Amino acid sequence: MQANSDGAWILVTGATAGIGKALVARVATDGRNVIAAARDPARVRIPNGPGRVEAVRLDFEEPSTIEAAAGDVARIAGAAGLAGLVNMAGIIVEGPLEAIPTQALRRQFEVNVIGPVALTQAVLPMLAKARGAIVNIGAVSAHLTPPFYGPIAASKAALASLNDAMRLEFAQFGIRVFLIEPGAMKTGIFATAKAARDVWLADRPDLERRYRPAFAAMERAFEKSGADDPEVVVTAVIAVLSGRRARLRTVVGKGAGAFVLASRLPIRLRDRLVKSALGLSEALRPAN
Ligand SMILES: NC(=O)c1ccc[n+]([C@@H]2O[C@H](COP(=O)([O-])OP(=O)(O)OC[C@H]3O[C@@H](n4cnc5c(N)ncnc54)[C@H](OP(=O)(O)O)[C@@H]3O)[C@@H](O)[C@H]2O)c1
Repeated sequence: MQANSDGAWILVTGATAGIGKALVARVATDGRNVIAAARDPARVRIPNGPGRVEAVRLDFEEPSTIEAAAGDVARIAGAAGLAGLVNMAGIIVEGPLEAIPTQALRRQFEVNVIGPVALTQAVLPMLAKARGAIVNIGAVSAHLTPPFYGPIAASKAALASLNDAMRLEFAQFGIRVFLIEPGAMKTGIFATAKAARDVWLADRPDLERRYRPAFAAMERAFEKSGADDPEVVVTAVIAVLSGRRARLRTVVGKGAGAFVLASRLPIRLRDRLVKSALGLSEALRPAN
């Protein structure tokens, strides 16, 4: 990525952990200025430049912080405008769909879909000013929904659709829009999701007992298939922020391409394959 000569800034959400944290470090090290958005700005790690890092508060579960963050961004970016927005922040809501609390479903969409769109709207004039780029971080689960991951998969499918509408509608403002869909990465997102699931399942010991073998089988399958280094996503984001002719939609990470290919199989075959790969053929055997 070119060093930042014109003072333009890149706004990155989800800057306190996982891929977002790694992205902030890389962008600043590459010499560009970053506005790191976080629920708790004090947790943003400020690398030793040469790019500058400014932290702003943003919590998608508190919609008033979106406008406030946009105001902070305008103050920091000033006349140069915003060269990039990376919609990175996200959560996973998981568990058996027969009982996932609707409040958790709302939270899934608030953080992964509605919040990012509201933020995009709020900073759009600044992006237009710099003829900047939007990078939406989706997931391969938008293509193929694993059992118990319906909410996250649905949120990323929704984001992928909105990404396409953004790309078509914002080109008139000179704004380029990209979607990056990672496969599994080594971050804390799965542990956080599992802990949240276990909290509400604690009120449903019947379900916890019934699904325990399925969850254990899935964990073994995930361990076996492994996860990739978040830096591969960071590299993909940097590539689209830098290149004028970058790919508009990119799938990244170990096994992610195969995941997308499997999504094109006939549905019954695909279901059998998904259940078998995840060790769920017995647990999710159809009733006679
Ligand atoms: N890791 C994977 O395997 C994987 C695969 C495909 C796609 N992705 C996507 O990549 C993105 C980053 O994931 P990650 O693995 O780096 O996750 P992570 O390590 O859990 O980090 C998530 C980030 O989102 C922030 N966040 C959570 N709730 C928020 C809210 N209400 N408002 C604003 N920010 C909030 C978190 O802030 P706090 O630190 O305050 O919690 C954190 O900075 C997500 O969109 C995820 O869906 C990840």
